[in-house]
Amino acid sequence: MKVSVTVNGGQVAADVEDRTLLVHFLRDVAGLTGTNVGCDTSSCGACTVLLDGRSVKSCTVLAAQADGRAVTTIEGLAAGGGPALTGDGELPGGDATMHPMQRAFRAEHALQCGFCTPGMVMAAVSLLDENPDPTEAEVRSALEGNICRCTGYHNIVRAVLAAARQGQAQ
Ligand code: FES
Ligand code: FES
Repeated sequence: MKVSVTVNGGQVAADVEDRTLLVHFLRDVAGLTGTNVGCDTSSCGACTVLLDGRSVKSCTVLAAQADGRAVTTIEGLAAGGGPALTGDGELPGGDATMHPMQRAFRAEHALQCGFCTPGMVMAAVSLLDENPDPTEAEVRSALEGNICRCTGYHNIVRAVLAAARQGQAQ
């Protein structure tokens, strides 16, 4: 079936199998591999993206369900469509090109292996969009569906609270 989705502001159209999941559409059709697949069974949150501005686990959504709608992935958060690191691991443009939530994650050391990070950041962006001044308990509750095997969550929660204090700019 033909599916057309606005991804990070651009149109992505393709003929896909009916059963194609949104996460596979994003990774394999749109070529946006920042959205990870951790479990494929809606448990880990690594695949979290924004669908019409609200966070969803893209392994639980069919590409067909996103037809005619707007998706934002981690690549769409930063100015200029996503940071490509330079050879020395820095952003060309520096931190200024990053979304405030990405800057907060970096500043608070809220990641180790980074596998959960795109989904975690997208879930956090969605949380602050709905609740710009959450308590620590509200942050922990909102991120319950996002599993991190490395950090113990403390710095992630700190980063989200820091982004909230700074006033997240979408
Ligand atoms: S890959 Fe979607 S929730 Fe784990
Ligand atoms: S930083 Fe490794 S899974 Fe979260």
